[in-house]
Amino acid sequence: MPHPLRTLAVRVVKPLVPESLWRRLRGLAGAAPAPQPVAPLSPAEQRRRRLQAMDLTELAQEFRTDKWGRHFYTPHYQRHLEHLRDERFTLLEIGIGGYAREKQGGRSLRMWKHFFPRAQIVGLDIEDKSFVEAPRIKAYQGSQTDREVLERIVAENGRPQVVIDDGSHRPEHIRETFRVLFPMLADDGVYAIEDTQTSYWPTWGGSEDRQDPTTTMALVKDLLDGLNYEEFLDADYEPTYSDRHVVAVHAYHNLIFIEKGLNNEGGGPTPGRKKAGDTAHGASA
Ligand SMILES: C[S@@+](CC[C@H](N)C(=O)[O-])C[C@H]1O[C@@H](n2cnc3c(N)ncnc32)[C@H](O)[C@@H]1O
Repeated sequence: MPHPLRTLAVRVVKPLVPESLWRRLRGLAGAAPAPQPVAPLSPAEQRRRRLQAMDLTELAQEFRTDKWGRHFYTPHYQRHLEHLRDERFTLLEIGIGGYAREKQGGRSLRMWKHFFPRAQIVGLDIEDKSFVEAPRIKAYQGSQTDREVLERIVAENGRPQVVIDDGSHRPEHIRETFRVLFPMLADDGVYAIEDTQTSYWPTWGGSEDRQDPTTTMALVKDLLDGLNYEEFLDADYEPTYSDRHVVAVHAYHNLIFIEKGLNNEGGGPTPGRKKAGDTAHGASA
């Protein structure tokens, strides 16, 4: 609301003085300066803002990764990774895409770059995908089961907060990569494995036998058991690294999320735990 003196001046003084003098008087009275025209945003800035307003499914469509459309993974990723959106961290995705086709791939890396505007995005592929490199996107060439290349990635980029295995999809590779890389994941990191359906496909190294212990889904089922290792009855059971560091496993259609933390809540007294040295038949309750 204008000040009453200002209203009085407008009514009484303004009609008596020339317009130029009135403007000078207004300036002396500290009237607000005329608004400056706002510079239009550059096309790059407009695009950056448009992408930043998108959710992950919209970004997947924008960059045409099959994480949405062929698969329906992006809402699950959004749920499990949303809390990192504004954080500075390293995301490692195994499998950049395009296989041996030259200059093909990188779609999901670009999607991640825009979903996580402060993160370093690192891709690993068995093929040379160096063409995808860009600010905040790095590409490494090597096998997902090569410990040396995985260690080099971590040494050069820090322990990843997020690992996504979207590489060969061969269960033996997925299991070996998890064995090597899970200990290198940040303490509260998230490890995702895509396309677990290859567990059931012999042509991909899986098995029609759903009890086969060598598949990706067998690894997942073992992790579920490991969540409760503190209640196992065998007193001489030696917990594995993943028993002690997996705090949650979320399973969706063909997609798994494994949360890392300290799995040591303790369960109190466990009825029927065997003492070390007890035989299978002679354990006391
Ligand atoms: C399904 S594509 C990745 C798609 C990409 N992540 C996306 O969402 O757009 C799988 C990629 O894994 C690569 N790959 C296959 N075997 C691999 C291995 N042993 N180690 C690393 N990468 C491998 C392939 O060259 C291919 O480019």
